[in-house]
Amino acid sequence: MRIPVYMDSHATTPVDPKVLERMLPFFTQDFGNPASRQHQYGWVAETAVEGARASIAKQIGALAKDVVFTAGASEANNLYIKGIADGLRQQGNHIITLQTEHKSVLETCRTLEKRGCRVTYLGVDQDGFVRPEELRAAIAAETILVSIMYANNEIGTIQPMEAIGQICLEKNVLFHSDATQAVGKVPVNMALMQLDALSFSGHKFYAPKGIGALAFRSVKRKPKFAPLIEGGGQERGIRSGTLNVPGIVGLGAALEIAAGSMNEEAARLSGMRDRMLRSFESELGGVVLNGPRSARLPQNLNVSFLGVEDTTLMMSLKDIAVSTGSACSSVDPQPSHVLKALRIPEGRVHSALRFGLSRFTTDEEVDFVVKRVIEAVKQLRASSPAYRMLQETIHSSKEDVTP
Ligand SMILES: Cc1ncc(COP(=O)(O)O)c(C=O)c1O
Repeated sequence: MRIPVYMDSHATTPVDPKVLERMLPFFTQDFGNPASRQHQYGWVAETAVEGARASIAKQIGALAKDVVFTAGASEANNLYIKGIADGLRQQGNHIITLQTEHKSVLETCRTLEKRGCRVTYLGVDQDGFVRPEELRAAIAAETILVSIMYANNEIGTIQPMEAIGQICLEKNVLFHSDATQAVGKVPVNMALMQLDALSFSGHKFYAPKGIGALAFRSVKRKPKFAPLIEGGGQERGIRSGTLNVPGIVGLGAALEIAAGSMNEEAARLSGMRDRMLRSFESELGGVVLNGPRSARLPQNLNVSFLGVEDTTLMMSLKDIAVSTGSACSSVDPQPSHVLKALRIPEGRVHSALRFGLSRFTTDEEVDFVVKRVIEAVKQLRASSPAYRMLQETIHSSKEDVTP
């Protein structure tokens, strides 16, 4: 067992050795530029890129010609949301998104507000779900785009994508989703969900960092689109720049592997996750699950250990790589904007840890983490006079301790 035990898979995952193996020839032997149309090096690279594109498109319910490779989900989110705001300026200037989105969506929207767009940041319920009727009511004549994340990176909430897609279709607005935490973990089908665009990043599902994609469904409604990066006209002019061939091959391989083992992996990870939660609840008390019990990412566990400050707890868990709040999205030490959007008590926001299980997490590691967390929480609570006061609150207010 490697120490620290890695339980931060929402931030990133290691490259699967099987993915690496497929990538390696494209660093050395088959290093050509797919844009070199005059010789074999270019053709080999192009064939590999187009093979990966076709395979990715098939997995997500899109057409190969509608998959654009980017450096990751942040770029894909920026590219699509800014591109649509610019391209559809004549049609409207209103965008709808969620308060619990990743910063790469929220900050993009803030920039667009400065450029004259109106943005509605919808609230969520206590488990992080959008209320579809609230979305329907927020769509106005000048609404051009709804951008709602598929699954939340902190609390694992999986949004009712088909219901949202249906509303967007009825109201004739574009529907984009940041599916960074969902792709490779749960089934994602753009056609089924009436999605016009989807963003994701390879390093969340065992491909390398620095590669991701934006997928469109131009068969439905072809939006006018302004590119972020201009130059050699690669990716049909939507994203110029020499393609990251090894990364693209890795992205395709990682998605194939994930699709082939999705059900078993989800069952294994959610089983481990539920076992961790049960142990915390039975051994400690004053433990609250943040996010829903069902419609939740299988690898996600976000729990508040009431009466313990999250950063203090993390510091006493040096042999576990875990995170408080949203470590993957921000270098900002502010309390989690996602937990705040749930409108839960302050004490819950400041005592939350996020555990992220992965394909490589073992039962032995789960046992170790459970044991260490229980010891640390007991120790910190024992030395905290505030905890005794809190226990009285717990007894008198059931609402604080049950999710
Ligand atoms: C939901 C979500 N969206 C977007 C991103 C950004 O991905 P990247 O940093 O690979 O661009 C992340 C993670 O960092 C994420 O969890």
